[in-house]
Amino acid sequence: MDPYIWKIARPVQDYDGRLHKTMTQRTNGRRALVTGGAGLIGSHLSDLLLKEGYGVRILDNLEPQTHRNGRPPWIPPQAEFHNADIRDRDAVRAALEGVDVVFHQAAYGGYMPELAKYVHVNSFGTAQMLEIIRDENLPVEKFVVASSQAVYREGAAICEEHGLVFPHTRPAGQLAAGDYAVRCPVCGEASTSTLTPEEAPTGGESVYAITKSDQERLVLSWGRQTGVPTVALRYSCTYGPRQSIFNPYTGVIAIFCTRLLNGQPPVLYEDGEQTRDLCFVGDVARANLLAAQSDALDGLPVNVGSGLATTIREVARMVSEAVDVPIEPIARGEYRPGEMRHLTSDISRAASAGYEPEVGLQSGIGRYIDWIRGQGHVRDYFAEAEKVLRAKSIIHETRYASGSADPERR
Ligand SMILES: NC(=O)c1ccc[n+]([C@@H]2O[C@H](COP(=O)([O-])OP(=O)(O)OC[C@H]3O[C@@H](n4cnc5c(N)ncnc54)[C@H](O)[C@@H]3O)[C@@H](O)[C@H]2O)c1
Ligand SMILES: [Zn+2]
Repeated sequence: MDPYIWKIARPVQDYDGRLHKTMTQRTNGRRALVTGGAGLIGSHLSDLLLKEGYGVRILDNLEPQTHRNGRPPWIPPQAEFHNADIRDRDAVRAALEGVDVVFHQAAYGGYMPELAKYVHVNSFGTAQMLEIIRDENLPVEKFVVASSQAVYREGAAICEEHGLVFPHTRPAGQLAAGDYAVRCPVCGEASTSTLTPEEAPTGGESVYAITKSDQERLVLSWGRQTGVPTVALRYSCTYGPRQSIFNPYTGVIAIFCTRLLNGQPPVLYEDGEQTRDLCFVGDVARANLLAAQSDALDGLPVNVGSGLATTIREVARMVSEAVDVPIEPIARGEYRPGEMRHLTSDISRAASAGYEPEVGLQSGIGRYIDWIRGQGHVRDYFAEAEKVLRAKSIIHETRYASGSADPERR
């Protein structure tokens, strides 16, 4: 096979075992499979790879929670698109044909109420793909998996007495009492958040976190066994154009934006003073390319983020200002057990290989809003989703939640 020729199906139709019309494309000699390539990160990564001359194949099942209107318009026509589920062995085998680099982005994400589906899509889907590559001796030269900062149990912190510490997940009883402090695991005193390095203990407690941990451990240990270079990128909260406006379970900026555009206040969990590291999607896409092209990160988990902390209350303020809808956020004394209080990535490992975030939060939010304004009517799905999450005990109320007469409370 000529490595510089990539034969793809055109016009891009759903792959159903018969590729109707084919065309050939000259590439830089590298062929990539991007799973989840219709999504936020996968689609920006696909664009970047095409720009770099890669042949690109996308496998994505257009998960309805994310793609309520079906196939999104941004799937690039130069990429071969396989509308298939990562759990479908034959489809995955077909998608791996002739591929040099795998960017495994497909996942079931966010705070959704299922349990088994996370394990099936994320853990099983990844394990099966690795098994196929190994059993069939496919010549994959690099496997990059999308992990998450959710794998950490709580962000690193500084205790006045004990220095750098790695606190435990805050006990549910503490949160129920409306006490959100992150305590030193040695002396129990309140600590101050600091940058979290990759060496921090993992142990995130949401089912999503558990399966992201599975994915990265499966990939990295498989890499050690097979000798195939692997990298697990632990993304921080990623946002940007194309982030689903339909999915009320994931993406704080997208959720705040759709709430405000519908005249509804953003809802803050805890007291809104928790902090996150928000990273623009273009930066995450570039980190993937770097992971594929450099060998400096091989075999490692690698934080990818902005390295900067922002409170969720501040995010709400910035989004409200950017959409020009002056509605104050509300904090109703609710919390999500297992959620971390503070997490900002120490990005020095990625930086040592040349990674540098380029897009600041204000400018990134502006780009997201420019995009969302072109999306026609944007509905708020969050209010309905919240009811489900309360019913399934994913959102809890503190014992001291104010008994306000807010009709949305229950
Ligand atoms: N966005 C974030 O803040 C963030 C943070 C950390 C990690 N991640 C990880 O990054 C990756 C990409 O996330 P994203 O933000 O682009 O999410 P996204 O939901 O926009 O994209 C995920 C894509 O995967 C597809 N998908 C879901 N289930 C599938 C299945 N069973 N078979 C095939 N395709 C399937 C979806 O249709 C979607 O297009 C995921 O692995 C996610 O866990 C995202
Ligand atoms: Zn201490």
